[in-house]
Amino acid sequence: MAHRAYDRSNVTTCRKSNHLTHREESEFSVNLGQYLARQQRRVDMFLDQCVPAPAVGDPLVQAMRYSLFSGGKRLRPILAIAAAEAVGGALRTVLPFACALELIHTYSLIHDDLPAMDDDALRRGKPTSHVVFGEGIAILAGDALLTEAFRVMAEAARTSSLSPRRTLQVLSEVAQAAGVRGMVAGQAADLCAESMPPELPMVEWIHIRKTGALIRAAVRTGALLGGAGTAQLHRLTRYAEFLGLAFQVADDILDTEGALHVTGKTRGRDQVRQKATFPAVLGMATAKQRARELLATALDELRPFKRQADPLRGIARFTVGRACPPNGDTGARR
Ligand code: IPE
Ligand code: IPE
Ligand code: MG
Ligand code: MG
Ligand code: MG
Repeated sequence: MAHRAYDRSNVTTCRKSNHLTHREESEFSVNLGQYLARQQRRVDMFLDQCVPAPAVGDPLVQAMRYSLFSGGKRLRPILAIAAAEAVGGALRTVLPFACALELIHTYSLIHDDLPAMDDDALRRGKPTSHVVFGEGIAILAGDALLTEAFRVMAEAARTSSLSPRRTLQVLSEVAQAAGVRGMVAGQAADLCAESMPPELPMVEWIHIRKTGALIRAAVRTGALLGGAGTAQLHRLTRYAEFLGLAFQVADDILDTEGALHVTGKTRGRDQVRQKATFPAVLGMATAKQRARELLATALDELRPFKRQADPLRGIARFTVGRACPPNGDTGARR
């Protein structure tokens, strides 16, 4: 199994949140590290079937698999699975859609690292796709991963007993989240903002789209396929929106403070590229405060849910906790 670009010591410490009541703390019995590892194995196995190893050297498929199996945390598919579980849905139904989100995420990272975009040479502690395979193949590997995602979802919809209406809603929402109404729009604004003085509304606009949209789609995919009722779907959507923003604020913080063994990325790239980030606009201390507030608000949305939502709680604490641990220590540097 490839190295996962996160520190497992943070997985356990992030359970201790100052936003928990005693009752919640005692109810929160999920060992998040074990839960993540179990779901990662399931996701890895499914992805291995989606993009099998080529019989003969095929640089395109090699590049797809290189990025797909380089140690991503699999948070988007796990969020989809955890959201389905939170509403009593079945893993089998949601797994192909969850994995499709990881295919889209992986494509977005390959393109994000390209010289024409963030020009990053390191991802998950390894050379980026274009460094290994050249720009042309890296671009095409991204294109192929994005397209495969929709093939995998369409195939799952065709062969499952899910209602066609539900699955088409999921497909439509994922397309919206990934494209010009979501992630790609955020990525474009992120590039344009490099030459502008950053302001908070603009940074929020970018973050909600470039990162938040796919996270929102992941949670809604799990909730919709898991059979969430209207009120549950509303709560889970709001949880995902706060988490999605918190996720990118945490990523911004880690860009400055995160050690290579935690992030798998070169530190300080946002400043070099003059990116519009939360620390650039608010300062580091306020950005951390904002991340903790977003976490608290996300957790509040889960209040009506019982222990089945513990993985969603744990993932949110883990996401923010690795950038700003609750005890105030800068665990990200360990
Ligand atoms: C990194 O996402 C890119 C952002 C949207 C901030 P992750 O931190 O989930 O990356 P991997 O997949 O675990 O490497
Ligand atoms: C990337 O944001 C978001 C997407 C890939 C859609 P960043 O550019 O901050 O992500 P990292 O820091 O390179 O992982
Ligand atoms: Mg970027
Ligand atoms: Mg980047
Ligand atoms: Mg970043």
